Formats: sequence, structure tokens, C-alpha cells
Amino acid sequence: MIDTPTHRRWDPVVKLTHWAVALAVLANAVITEAGSANHVWVGYALAAILALRLLWGMIGPAEARFAAFPPSPGRAMAHIRDISAGRKTEHRSHNPLGALMVYAIWGTLLVIIATGVAMAGLPPGQGAEHKGAPTTISAAPIPAEAGEDEAREAGEREGEEGEEGPLGAVHEAAVNLLYALILLHIGGVVFESRRQKRNLALAMLPGGG
Ligand code: HEM
Ligand code: HEM
Repeated sequence: MIDTPTHRRWDPVVKLTHWAVALAVLANAVITEAGSANHVWVGYALAAILALRLLWGMIGPAEARFAAFPPSPGRAMAHIRDISAGRKTEHRSHNPLGALMVYAIWGTLLVIIATGVAMAGLPPGQGAEHKGAPTTISAAPIPAEAGEDEAREAGEREGEEGEEGPLGAVHEAAVNLLYALILLHIGGVVFESRRQKRNLALAMLPGGG
């Protein structure tokens, strides 16, 4: 927030939680099968990492604290004016526009986690339905001759009508919103790095900053 001549520094907890969150999102987006035991395990790990980062926002070093990057549309507008006027400003933590993005990403992750946990119930191993088997396919009777696609369709239909329906829909919508936010986030990092003529991503790497 406050202009300082020094470059931004992130402590190891911020760096570690950043890349662990990114990895978990990537894993659940492209590797694990939606709703499978692995998906849910990665989901719980994501929840734990996010909880650690949010705790760090209250007890961590100055740059990591929420107080260093309050959500402020007014300051975000001022930052946009700085950009359009070509004014270069240094911020000790996330710049005010970046701060809005950070809260948007965290908020969206919380919705994804809340709906995911609500659908999954107890952690895998404690709930009977998660003993390794994917849960996306329902127990609805599927004709023996049904092909794989028909079986999946039947599972999805049941999911839409069953109790996972609205939760699943919110989960999926929030996931799509998250993808859009991540693209904007990476775009913002590239844009601001060019503007400041230094690679902001380096500050998120071990030893960087
Ligand atoms: C950012 C990380 C995540 C991504 C990218 C993601 C992605 C998805 C997608 C695309 C689906 C399929 C859409 C649907 O059926 O609703 C899905 C389903 C599901 N996800 Fe996630 N998910 C994430 C986190 C979580 C978490 C944290 C949990 C729980 C701890 C979770 C539990 C589930 C469950 C149980 C389903 C199955 C829904 C159903 O059977 O209809 N997910 N996820
Ligand atoms: C799934 C993908 C990603 C997610 C969910 C994500 C999310 C976030 C979040 C929540 C923060 C705030 C960090 C904190 O205060 O704890 C952040 C900061 C940051 N992220 Fe990402 N990120 C992702 C991918 C990336 C990638 C691929 C890059 C590399 C270009 C990147 C570069 C950065 C940088 C440089 C910051 C600090 C911005 C600043 O200097 O204010 N992120 N990201």
C-alpha cells in the first residue's frame, strides 16, 4: 500500500501456499476425475492450505496481512488512474487492483470448497461412498446393455435431479468463474510486470523478491 523504494518480498508461507493452491486447482481441473476420491482428497488439501494462508493474513508478516491490501474499490480506481496517467507506484503488498483479484479468487475458492465438501460429506475413508470408487456415477439402475456414455448420462441426470444437483451446479459455475479469474490474474501479473519492467513472478519463487 505504502510507497516504498524496496522491491516486494513474499515470505515462504505466502510463496508455498500460492503454488500449492495453484497445483491443487490444476490437479482438480485436469487430472482427477470430478467427484472421485482423489478429487475430494485434493479438495480437502486445498481447503487446509487456504485456511493456513487466511490465518497468515492475520498473524503473518506485514506484507502478508489483510491490512496491507484491504479490498478497496476506491483505491483500485485510483490505481487505474495511475496506470492510464503512466504513473508508476510501488506497493508493499498487492496493488489495490491485485488485492480485489486476490479476494475474488479466495472467495470463489471458498464457494468451491463449501459446495464440494457439502457434496462429498465426510473425508474419504470415513464416508462409505468414497472408498476409492468415483462418486459421479450414481447408484441409479442402469440397463445392463447401456454403453459407457449412456451410463455417464444416467449418472449426470440423476445428479441433476438428486440432492447434489444445485450444489453441483454452483460448484461447476464457481469453477468456471475461477478459471476466468485465473486468466485475468495471470494477465494482470504480465501487464504489471511489463509496466514496472520487472518480473513480479520472480518474487513468488524461492529466493526471489
Ligand atoms: C478448485 C478446485 C476444484 C476444481 C477445479 C473442481 C472441479 C470440479 C468439476 C469440474 C466438477 C464436475 C462438475 C459437477 O459435477 O458439479 C466437480 C465435481 C465435484 N467436486 Fe470438485 N473441484 C474442485 C474442488 C473441490 C473440492 C474442494 C471438493 C470437496 C472437498 C470437491 C468435490 C467435488 C464433488 C464431490 C464433485 C461431484 C459432484 C457430482 O457428483 O455431481 N471439489 N469438481
Ligand atoms: C491456479 C492458478 C493460480 C491461482 C489460483 C493464483 C492465485 C493467487 C493468489 C490467491 C494470490 C495472492 C497471494 C497471497 O497473498 O497469498 C496470487 C498472487 C500472485 N500470483 Fe498467482 N495464482 C495462480 C497462478 C499464477 C501463475 C501461473 C503465476 C505466474 C505468472 C502467478 C503469479 C502470481 C504473482 C506474481 C502474485 C503476486 C502478485 C503481486 O505481486 O501482488 N500466479 N495468486
